[in-house]
Amino acid sequence: MTDSETVAHEKRRAHAKALMLAGVAAIGGFLFGFDTSIINGAVSAIGKDFGIGSIALGFVVSSALLGCAVGAWFAGQLSNALGRVRVMLIAAILFFISAIGSALAVAAWDLVIWRVIGGLAVGAASVIAPAYIAEISPANMRGRLGSLQQLAIVSGIFVALLADFVFATAAGGANEPLWWGLDAWRWMFASAAIPAFAYGIMALQIPESPRYLVSKHELTRAREVLKSVLGGNVDQRITEIERSLKSDKPPRMGDLKGPVLGLLPIVWVGILLSVFQQFVGINVIFYYSSTLWEAVGFSQSDSMLISVITSVTNIVTTLVAIALVDKLGRKPLLLAGSAAMAVSLGVMAFIFATAPVADVAGKPQPMLGDLEGPIALVAANLFVFGFGCSWGPLVWVLLGEMFGNRIRASALAVAAAAQWVANWTVSATFPWLSEVGLGLAYGLYAGMAALSFVFVARAVRETKGRELEDMDRA
Ligand code: GLC
Repeated sequence: MTDSETVAHEKRRAHAKALMLAGVAAIGGFLFGFDTSIINGAVSAIGKDFGIGSIALGFVVSSALLGCAVGAWFAGQLSNALGRVRVMLIAAILFFISAIGSALAVAAWDLVIWRVIGGLAVGAASVIAPAYIAEISPANMRGRLGSLQQLAIVSGIFVALLADFVFATAAGGANEPLWWGLDAWRWMFASAAIPAFAYGIMALQIPESPRYLVSKHELTRAREVLKSVLGGNVDQRITEIERSLKSDKPPRMGDLKGPVLGLLPIVWVGILLSVFQQFVGINVIFYYSSTLWEAVGFSQSDSMLISVITSVTNIVTTLVAIALVDKLGRKPLLLAGSAAMAVSLGVMAFIFATAPVADVAGKPQPMLGDLEGPIALVAANLFVFGFGCSWGPLVWVLLGEMFGNRIRASALAVAAAAQWVANWTVSATFPWLSEVGLGLAYGLYAGMAALSFVFVARAVRETKGRELEDMDRA
């Protein structure tokens, strides 16, 4: 082998290694998607088994999202203190406990506890995966590797919906016993124990993040890990990381303090990226789609099928983002996504707002005609497409890479916690908003998408190809 061949070979091996490490961290994303969606197929069965009404059920569903916010918040400090990998292990254990606990819940109150424990894990995974992936990625692959997180999240959503369907069908209904006298809905929750176990075992095999190791002055180990993912000589990079940490003191939440309403401007950019990602209403599609399509005239099985198709659309579009993100950059994709979402949501708003309203079980329901139904369906999938190529993956990529080394984990934690609160706000208000009018609901989301365009154009910096150590220079 010539010298240049050896270098190329070493680079290829290093990139394969980075891909492998990012893949392990992204299992956290898979569990994030799986855990938040698995409850879909179980909701009505839980209501029947525990004899609770829709308000209490809504609480069972949404309590997990608030757990996510708390988990995200603490994951930042914990990962500064204990390391990124230990937080993954803690999350894996919490995922496992939540899966078994939810499966064996005796009443609604303990189900809430188990779901909140799962939420803590989801929140922690939502912080730790993007941080770890950005910290082990070579700059020119960071967008693609970071998007693996979203690919894992949407695959988790898809597998969960499929698992719900398979368990319910095998038992002849979510309320019917499947194995060992346990109802199918309990097996839905129990199935999360498998990826949780895999996550824990895989996390034991991966090295700590080099940026974290430098912050703990473990330079020899940091050099080894960095060399294994970058190839070549990494001394200069280590020096840069040390410089970017700015102080010998360990990073802490206080580092986020700044001039704009008490925070650094960049932290606000992270928070707003998160909030816009949720305020365009994406999870209304994922959490409520079946009921939504049923309400406007599709049959129950058609509606379930539409939901599965939508989650497949979401996986495919993430692949499009992976192909484009390191070539086109983050900003053009976000802008295109905002525009596509504003238009498709606008179409949905118009169709729902102008549809004739019928009285269904005492509630006003828009009835879509033969033309409007399919148009709404296409618009909804275009919306998911626009989101999936842009805001879905890129917010996670940006949150992982846009902050300097010193503030990364803390800032990511704050932004992710804001994202979970925003997610909760949208999910909790949608049932009420949709009763006032679906046109109004989608109109609001369309307005948010339009605003997100202006926000990106004005406030978001391109990060494509830049080193993490350069992030807080501009
Ligand atoms: C992003 C969002 C998440 C959503 C998913 C759907 O990951 O953060 O809330 O469920 O996209 O694609």
